[in-house]
Amino acid sequence: MSLMQPGDIIQTCLRTREVMKSVEWLGDRVRIIDQTQLPTHLIYVDCWTPEDVAEAIVALRVRGAPAIGVAAGYGLVLAGQHSRAVDLGSWWGDLDRAVDLLRRTRPTAVNLARALDVVRAATNLATDVEDAKRRALEAAHAICEEDRQANRRMGDIGADLIPSPANVLTHCNTGSLATVDFGTALGVIRTAHRRGKTIHVWVDETRPALQGARLTAWELLMEGIRHTVIADGAAGFLMKRGLVDVVLVGADRVAVNGDVANKVGTYSLAVLARAHGIPFYVVAPTSTIDVSIPDGSAIPLEERRPEEIRVLGGTLIAPQESPALNLAFDVTPHELISAIVTETGIARPPYRHSLAELTLARTGSSVQE
Ligand code: MRU
Repeated sequence: MSLMQPGDIIQTCLRTREVMKSVEWLGDRVRIIDQTQLPTHLIYVDCWTPEDVAEAIVALRVRGAPAIGVAAGYGLVLAGQHSRAVDLGSWWGDLDRAVDLLRRTRPTAVNLARALDVVRAATNLATDVEDAKRRALEAAHAICEEDRQANRRMGDIGADLIPSPANVLTHCNTGSLATVDFGTALGVIRTAHRRGKTIHVWVDETRPALQGARLTAWELLMEGIRHTVIADGAAGFLMKRGLVDVVLVGADRVAVNGDVANKVGTYSLAVLARAHGIPFYVVAPTSTIDVSIPDGSAIPLEERRPEEIRVLGGTLIAPQESPALNLAFDVTPHELISAIVTETGIARPPYRHSLAELTLARTGSSVQE
């Protein structure tokens, strides 16, 4: 269902300073923006079942670590609502089947698994099926609200790190589309711009799904932030020429020692930034820190269909017979990361210590695992 033309939305957002909601609960369904259609079509899709939500996550209609966490949480709520079970035992059985389905969609972003665990656990103390449904919905809403607030706080905290004027280089999409709204790394850029800093953003196109070119550029356009889309391979030479002051990226999972899994290409940027003496910042809510993972080698990394590499916009761009490797994520070792901005503060090396403190600062005031 297309509600507005992309141009209308851009005008509306520039007027109201509102940012897009990538995921929204509408009482009996989850509404998402179909991100595969951007930037040419702004289409909202309604997911009525957990299967609809799972399909949307696998197909990258909804994507970005926090956004898929929130979508999966609501997907579980849908499973609970649709269950015909009258006793709690059978209802939990239905819920657990949906947990399995949704957990299998994408392995790297910890937000997804965490949201499923939180919503499922919230029903443990339910007295009957209706009570369990209510508790599941409350938990999903809490995850959504927690993300919304975390993004604003990361924007405030991280904007202090950005000089003015600044050429910022970013990778993939970390904006309102990747979260509930506002964004992580892009949220920092947004806040710096709103504070009056002079910002220009180099937008890595981010092959193969082009989240940078299609989504980040679109969001920056809506916010009125100057930007230029570049081929992924151009970043190093721009750094060499002194045209990059800071690199800002998001994260799908942060290990206890500060190693960071993010969109493939992030590692190369971190190496390049180190070689050129440029600060490399990761912006991620504490919900993206996985306290069960000691270092990056234990993070499960998604590998997607080779077809996504060989085919671009419906056109074959490599021989069908040529093998293609489609790694969706890579791991950046903590030694290459200057700081990690979270909603409870800025973690600096040694991360084992600083991340533990910031994670502790979150617990108690927010959703518990
Ligand atoms: O494959 P995607 O588009 O879901 O990958 C998204 C990223 O890599 C983002 O950088 C990450 O989720 C952080 S977004 C707030």
